[in-house]
Amino acid sequence: MKNAILSNLPAACPWRDTLHWYDTIDSTNTRAKQLAAQGAPEGTVVIAGQQSAGRGRLGRSFHSPAGKGLYLSLILRPQCAPEQLMHLTCATAVAACNAAEEVTGYRPKVKWINDLVCQKQKLGGILTELSIDPQSGKVDYAIIGIGINCNHRREDFPSELREIATSLQNATGSPCPVDRLAAALISQLFTMSRELLCAQGRIMAQYRADCMTLGQQILVLRAEEKRYGTAEAVLDDGSLLVTYSDGHREAVSSGEVSVRGMYGYI
Ligand code: BTN
Repeated sequence: MKNAILSNLPAACPWRDTLHWYDTIDSTNTRAKQLAAQGAPEGTVVIAGQQSAGRGRLGRSFHSPAGKGLYLSLILRPQCAPEQLMHLTCATAVAACNAAEEVTGYRPKVKWINDLVCQKQKLGGILTELSIDPQSGKVDYAIIGIGINCNHRREDFPSELREIATSLQNATGSPCPVDRLAAALISQLFTMSRELLCAQGRIMAQYRADCMTLGQQILVLRAEEKRYGTAEAVLDDGSLLVTYSDGHREAVSSGEVSVRGMYGYI
């Protein structure tokens, strides 16, 4: 698999030499974190054929069966303050949509902030994790983890995910070449890493175009609090501007946002 990915990656991509492949691993994000803590450079990519403990946002798990999906993590070392990376998950979502469209002809939508979706079913997700240097207060490294369901059939999902998850194969009717998707994603992430801090406005304009949450009735869940509202806008820092049913407006940047009609919020 590693050779197949490399043969689809442009010879000029400098990240070719720092690609780590595992048949099985607990979590590519966990492995990437270990490598980063040992000094691995920007552009180190970890890909696995299967994850036994794939992790999602808000402490959730990410179902990662063998040979069905793409499970990839990347180490970045941007020289900046953490506040300048608020849009990193959004930029990664745009890169993932670009790669999926390039390889399959189908462009996923994004459910704010980190879910890739197809017709209100989950196609994949993004988990970004930052480590801050305590001395300088700047970013030491960022781990970007992306999971995409590629060739799952309905029966490949556990029963609790069958109604809410889908795959690129289901979306397009054709098998998805995981090796080509991995190579396209690495190339897109390379471009994204170069544009992240200098083309934030353009990246966020594309994120808004891909985001299916905008204009929808939503439920914002934080700790014990549940509030209904409408998603009005995505700001340049990636936060979601919400108008609640009592007229109060707020930029939401953490917690869970459920969209009416999706994943059980009916
Ligand atoms: C989510 O759905 O909340 C995010 C899912 C992110 C899953 C990917 S798969 C590759 C990387 N390794 C992990 O353990 N998680 C991310």
